[in-house]
Amino acid sequence: MTDKKLDDATGVETTGHEWDGIRELNNPLPRWWLYTLYACIVWAIAYTIAYPAWPMISGATSGLLGYSTRGEVAKDITAHEAKNTALVADLLAADLPTLQPGDDLHRYAVARGGSVFRAQCSQCHGSGAAGAKGYPNLRDDDWLWGGDLDAISATIDHGVRNETDGDARWSEMPAFGEILSDEEIDAVVTYVSSLSSPVEDAALVAAGATIFEDNCSACHGENGKGDREVGAPNLVDAIWLYGGDPATLAETVRNSRFGVMPAWGQRLSDEDVRAVAVYVHNLGGGE
Ligand code: HEC
Ligand code: HEC
Repeated sequence: MTDKKLDDATGVETTGHEWDGIRELNNPLPRWWLYTLYACIVWAIAYTIAYPAWPMISGATSGLLGYSTRGEVAKDITAHEAKNTALVADLLAADLPTLQPGDDLHRYAVARGGSVFRAQCSQCHGSGAAGAKGYPNLRDDDWLWGGDLDAISATIDHGVRNETDGDARWSEMPAFGEILSDEEIDAVVTYVSSLSSPVEDAALVAAGATIFEDNCSACHGENGKGDREVGAPNLVDAIWLYGGDPATLAETVRNSRFGVMPAWGQRLSDEDVRAVAVYVHNLGGGE
């Protein structure tokens, strides 16, 4: 401190710092700068009191104004739902098959159903609903359990082969590995292949046809065209749920399959189930 002195040229006090004879002047901070700083401090304190700010052990101080971004979203959603109450009531009351594409209600159902689908269904059926191995394509007109709106609604509402809904779609293909010999499985697989693509070995196909008649036609139909009562796939259309190559067919016949879908009626609101049924029906394969 003893080094502080007045600078000769300007008359301003120096800080006492000196480098090679160059001394630092101790000018006061400009007023405008200082007041801006004070204003910022006051504003920051006021802000942390008014708005959620200080982290606590669980959560944060909530602020006097009670604002939260989550609350804003909830408000938006409530406002949105209030706007749609009339449409929702109409959707719940409507006889779905009578909705006409182009109607406001149909458009609303498709839009609402689309967002339900993206959130709840796409992980199994694919974002474009084209399906995957074991998860049916919902865009085509090949339906396991029926493709009109009532059938689609029922499938979605109650699900497939789940233990939680007594009205779930249900059937079980036996595992024929315990019933048929390897040769018989080979023959019936060859017969099934021949239903949708040419197969050379006519004798094996004929043998397989008999085995099919005895063991499979009760569910898949005399001609292999399937049966929606029991969700048995059509085997002549070359559209495969699990795969149509001989190895996959043999695996299906030997071990059977057991596709399960949850009952969406237990998880979604009635209007969401109805909307997503209209959406699926509208994808292109609806009957
Ligand atoms: C956990 C996977 C999974 C999810 C999620 C799922 N599904 Fe499914 N879905 C399946 C399976 C598996 C089947 C086929 C069951 C069978 O083998 O018969 C199926 C069948 C269907 C069918 C019947 C198709 C036909 O050909 O008859 C419809 C319609 C359907 N799902 C709609 C939906 C909708 C709508 C949602 C969303 C709300 C949804 N699914 C979500 C697994 C799922
Ligand atoms: C009790 C009824 C029932 C009987 C009997 C039955 N199936 Fe099935 N089959 C089904 C059902 C239901 C499915 C669909 C399973 C699923 O989606 O999980 C199926 C699926 C299949 C598939 C898969 C089709 C695909 O698209 O991937 C093949 C192949 C098949 N069955 C062949 C046979 C053959 C061959 C026999 C006779 C040896 C037979 N089934 C007997 C009900 C039956």
